[in-house]
Amino acid sequence: MKEMVLVVLVMLCFFRCSDRSESSLANDYVENLLERMTLKEKIGQMNQYSAGSNLTGPSGSEDGRYEKFKNGEVGSVLNLVGAEETKKLQKLVVENSRLGIPLIFSYDVIHGYKTIFPLPLAESASWDLDLMEKSARIAALEATASGIQWTFAPMVDVSRDARWGRVMEGFGEDPYLVSLIARAKIKGLQGSDLSGVSTMAACVKHFAGYGLAESGKDYNSVNIGKNLLHNVLLPPFRASAQSKVATFMNAFNAIDGVPSTANEYLLRDLLFEKWGYEGVVVSDWNSIGELVNHGVAKDKNQASVLAINAGSHIDMEADAYIQNLEQLVENGTVKEERIDDAVRRILQLKFNLGLFEDPYKYSDVEREKEIVGSTEFRGVAREVATKSIVLLKNNNHLLPLNGERKIGIIGPLAKDKDSPIGNWRAQGESNSAVSLYEGISNAYGDSVELSYAKGCDLSIGPNNFFEEVQIETEDRSGFAEAIQVAQSSEVVLMVLGEPAFMSGEARSRSEIGLPGLQLDLLKVVHEVNKNIVLLLMNGRPLTIPWAAENIPAILETWHLGSEAGNAIADVLSGKVNPSGKLPISFPRSVGQLPIYYNKLNTGRPKSDMVFYSHHMDVENSSQYPFGYGLSYTTFVYDNLKVESGNDGVTVSIEVTNSGDRRGEEIVQLYIRDVVATISRPVLELKGFKKMMIETGETKKVEFQLSKEDFSFYNMDGDLVFEPGEFVFSVGTSSEKLLTQRIEVN
Ligand code: NOJ
Repeated sequence: MKEMVLVVLVMLCFFRCSDRSESSLANDYVENLLERMTLKEKIGQMNQYSAGSNLTGPSGSEDGRYEKFKNGEVGSVLNLVGAEETKKLQKLVVENSRLGIPLIFSYDVIHGYKTIFPLPLAESASWDLDLMEKSARIAALEATASGIQWTFAPMVDVSRDARWGRVMEGFGEDPYLVSLIARAKIKGLQGSDLSGVSTMAACVKHFAGYGLAESGKDYNSVNIGKNLLHNVLLPPFRASAQSKVATFMNAFNAIDGVPSTANEYLLRDLLFEKWGYEGVVVSDWNSIGELVNHGVAKDKNQASVLAINAGSHIDMEADAYIQNLEQLVENGTVKEERIDDAVRRILQLKFNLGLFEDPYKYSDVEREKEIVGSTEFRGVAREVATKSIVLLKNNNHLLPLNGERKIGIIGPLAKDKDSPIGNWRAQGESNSAVSLYEGISNAYGDSVELSYAKGCDLSIGPNNFFEEVQIETEDRSGFAEAIQVAQSSEVVLMVLGEPAFMSGEARSRSEIGLPGLQLDLLKVVHEVNKNIVLLLMNGRPLTIPWAAENIPAILETWHLGSEAGNAIADVLSGKVNPSGKLPISFPRSVGQLPIYYNKLNTGRPKSDMVFYSHHMDVENSSQYPFGYGLSYTTFVYDNLKVESGNDGVTVSIEVTNSGDRRGEEIVQLYIRDVVATISRPVLELKGFKKMMIETGETKKVEFQLSKEDFSFYNMDGDLVFEPGEFVFSVGTSSEKLLTQRIEVN
């Protein structure tokens, strides 16, 4: 075996030393290696096993895995972390298998590795692309120092239904915003050179349609027409492919009865042919095995045929490829060129990661000690967290807190150090976040009198990744203490919402109000003290009609990560002026779901007669729309100009800070294509600018739109431009806009 390692290194040196471009060097190297591989070894590269915890579903057989690693029958691993541990397994493979091809270590690094950032949905409320790139960069720094070279992120599924638990993991409901964030994340993770010791392969998921699970129920079927597919769901994936994301992951769902893992149209026709994508496609957990449950394959043997022919290159945990593909190629059912294509891509990725040069370079114990959890990252986590907070309501300028000396802190999440870490926490430790209570104590010290009551429990029993969360619904014995605290306080901070594992994978809800007894608690406190600031901590939009009506100040604080409490205190105290804007609509009631701003007009938009598209019992608008978020100051929009020229359309607007403190505003530009061959959305985000505006200052903002911005995908997935009338709208949210209409030719 050692000889083989030597051969590989000599080959590498030979190719490196010759005067060729990096990509032809990689090609030669990969082709040479491929030629030496047996069919079994090739299929081994397509096999991925999980090691350790964080299993996310039933897995294939555990039998004989150790031997399989030694024989080179496993190409990549998920869920094994740590410089020492990864080095040990890498050594086993490199030193024992015939060709010594190194493993790739992968992991779900979703919103930080050890230093935990806000949930992706929360972070997207910052609309701050540089900052989001930076948090991805830090996640990559930490994860790679722990031996990981591949993360299953970002999730770029556009989602419109807050019942779906995984809305927390995505970037919201707008394809344009999601695409830009996807690009920023990929850049942050992959950098400009994958072989760098601190960059890692990204993976966009779930291709495609997973975010539209019917009734928000995870893993459910989806119902997607071509317009929705091409104009809403696919743009972020296309943008990611253009950004050279290293890998794609299949979705669990079927589209029109064809499961994504076996979907030739999605993978071969679109991704590989039309978009020219040359990277790797990994199945989702056992999604090849699940083709049997979908009823499109009678067993894993047939499932393997469908998946490989469609273009799924790596089998995550189904044990389908490793058990079936060899025989399927030998009996002529599957062409060997399919296998070669998959393995070529996988080897290319390993080459790009620099693993052939040094399989152990990511597994450096010293580097791990120095980098993982470094305190300097906490500062960035705090900054991102403050920018992710959205001010939903602020009557009579109750916020920022201003000289109140007696602050009551009430609610089951007030002292919770775990929930802010959120789901998909990688190596984020349980109970490691700064709680809201701690954040307030840190900010105010002895200058205020803090009193606290939990009020009620939230989750009883398990609150972890593997088990269903149980919510307390009976015990009101803590209400009396909460009332006492409220009575003796000048202002009450109510900290309510969802525990960490109430959102995330398999955490769908049919009702999305405040869980358990929390609304009742809020109401009894409100009876004795109306000066309430409601701090929502949650992984999804919640329905809060009573609070929206009755509580004077509301902050959406999501699950903000390691620095949650400090970040919230920064905003409550006014040290930071909130600037977040919602990346997803908050419904008034569950019956409105799915709800999203970029809807079609329908043939029956609002009218004075009863026969228009509406519910009898709730108004059509959302509680808080996409793009919405207040500031401690106010911004006035004026002087909208739209001019068409040879280079496209220029839109400009003046924004004045008319309030009494400096603040950041996110200026949003939407368009509407009035008449087209297919019905187009009433509003579509096409640009935004985030900027600090000083008190009394006016800033002119300019957007330049090109032909592509006015185009849409037709039913064949081709981009088309249809000249005609367009409406241009600019403003502070998708509902508060100045508009102008012009012809665009
Ligand atoms: C299943 C999830 O759907 C996917 O997003 C994740 O990356 C894998 N499990 C691996 O943990």
